Amino acid sequence: MIVILLGPPGAGKGTQATRIMEKNGLVQLSTGDMLRAAVAAKTAVGIKAKEFMDSGKLVTDEIVIGIIADRIEEDDCRQGFLLDGFPRTLAQAEALDKLLTNKNLKVDAVIEMKVNDESLVDRITGRYTCAHCNMGYHDTNLKPQKAGVCDSCGSTNFNRRSDDNRKTVVARLATYHAQTAPLLPFYKEKGVLRTIDGMANIDDVTIQINNVLSKL
Ligand code: AP5
Ligand code: MG
Repeated sequence: MIVILLGPPGAGKGTQATRIMEKNGLVQLSTGDMLRAAVAAKTAVGIKAKEFMDSGKLVTDEIVIGIIADRIEEDDCRQGFLLDGFPRTLAQAEALDKLLTNKNLKVDAVIEMKVNDESLVDRITGRYTCAHCNMGYHDTNLKPQKAGVCDSCGSTNFNRRSDDNRKTVVARLATYHAQTAPLLPFYKEKGVLRTIDGMANIDDVTIQINNVLSKL
């Protein structure tokens, strides 16, 4: 099964991808996570990507398409995958179609997570993740059970993303509306678009996504 989670920054793509992976055994492919790993490792791709990411712009199509083309060849993608943050432009969506067609595969569903712009800034500026296992948390919406200790791995070290400040979030939202929202009619036309209410609480969003997946 090949599923795309499509939504603005802070819509809950990463939060839900982790839950869906655990339940359905799909691999999460987050281009944002892959690019952050490249930035941290100071690879050639990471050095190019950092400036775009910190200014709220998209990294070039060529770079992200190359990353995904290599990644979907790996063994753990054979049973299907869940794309989080890719595609984000029409050129990326068309390139994905080509890559999949070459493998006799297709996108089974595109889940649009609809959230009001006003809530996204709060969600993103309150977000932090475990430095060890990357489990996501939020200052008010999703705290660890024991303050300062990751529920998943017990680590006491946490990170905040450098692009999670108000100014960059506003730029990321504008980028989403200009470059990524046009994917909604693109996938609607193909009959694979499913829209869910991303404003619901985290557990209810998971239920809505599982309902979509159970019908595929
Ligand atoms: P990326 O890492 O993909 O960032 P994004 O799309 O901006 O999305 P986020 O990760 O910020 O949000 P999310 O939807 O995962 O929300 P989360 O679950 O964490 O991309 C970063 C950058 O990399 C881009 O700006 C770009 O430069 C580059 N890039 C990446 N992919 C690219 C591509 N394909 N092409 C070109 N460039 C690319 O949730 C957010 C917070 O809200 C959390 O704290 C969470 O606890 C909370 N929350 C989640 N759900 C709920 C809920 N239902 N109710 C209340 N709170 C909630
Ligand atoms: Mg994310």
